[in-house]
Amino acid sequence: MDYLDLRSDTVTRPSAKMRQQIAAAEVGDDVFEDDPTVKRLESMVAALFGREASLYVPSGSMANLVCLHTVSKPGDEIICEEGCHVFNFEAAAAAAISGLLFHIVRGERGAFTADKVRPLIRPESLHSPRTRIIEIENTHNRAGGTIFPLDDIRELHRLAGEYNLKTHLDGARIWNAHIATGVPLAEYAQYFDTVAVCLSKGLGAPIGSMVIGDHDFIREARRTRKMFGGGMRQVGILAAAGIYAIENNLARLAEDHENARRLAEALAQIEGIAIDLEAVQTNIVIFDVVRAGYSVEDVLAGLKEKGVLAVPFGERRIRCVTHLDISRSDIDRAIKVFQGVFETLN
Ligand SMILES: Cc1ncc(COP(=O)(O)O)c(C=O)c1O
Repeated sequence: MDYLDLRSDTVTRPSAKMRQQIAAAEVGDDVFEDDPTVKRLESMVAALFGREASLYVPSGSMANLVCLHTVSKPGDEIICEEGCHVFNFEAAAAAAISGLLFHIVRGERGAFTADKVRPLIRPESLHSPRTRIIEIENTHNRAGGTIFPLDDIRELHRLAGEYNLKTHLDGARIWNAHIATGVPLAEYAQYFDTVAVCLSKGLGAPIGSMVIGDHDFIREARRTRKMFGGGMRQVGILAAAGIYAIENNLARLAEDHENARRLAEALAQIEGIAIDLEAVQTNIVIFDVVRAGYSVEDVLAGLKEKGVLAVPFGERRIRCVTHLDISRSDIDRAIKVFQGVFETLN
């Protein structure tokens, strides 16, 4: 069956034009820093984010880990939000590989204020772990693609400066925040020592993430990437897809946001669904199945039977994500399927 795949924005397939760019890419050995296409991507991304340098890595998880590992020592502490990706969805890599201790702050729609973080910062003491990093996720996946308010980011940056802490941005979907708010990528990036962004989510590249920061940090990050087995050779064929994605698929994220809003508003009309419309700020739609007696599994199975794929996101919760391969008419088709499934379940 030709499914409408709303499981994630990672499911997109490279278009014919992207594949042409991949085929035509000039390559070299990137571990020797000889790949011209990787270099082009790295300088392009550094410039976009207004920073000195960037580094190409295979995945968002590796981008986060390379950042966190490079600026910390085992036993240091990272303050991050309870629903964030590094804490929940990266197989505890920061703890298992880098020896970081997670210190959790409870957020609201994935965001939190400096006032909430201040009491969590450890005093300098022989007995305590050292607070080292404040991490934020923007947009926030588990909270439903929510945007971290810029004023709170500025306050957190100020707080980090006061205590000499590092700041890390998991900006896997910072592109979506940028398109939704109009805040320049460089404005977001200036408040963080280390930034991780993904090319393989909303932008539609088949693979790849970028680590961004200043020259000294990127030099060390390159070493960390090698240590993790992430040094790659003629990888310009993949970097070419990243360049294509940034040049062609960034502005169109606005369509994904409109489609998500259209879907969310239609779902809000369906009896048996509860949805926080204010949390639908970009391309993610999360809702609760509130009809007694119906499980998330029933709903997902019903959707699949009628050609729509989504993912479970908790005991009563389902997530849908809009992306490059989902058009407005696909969304209208998906809405009809949702209506049908919930009528059948009635
Ligand atoms: C917010 C966030 N950070 C990081 C990642 C990790 O990306 P990857 O799947 O490429 O490792 C994801 C993946 O969904 C994510 O949503």
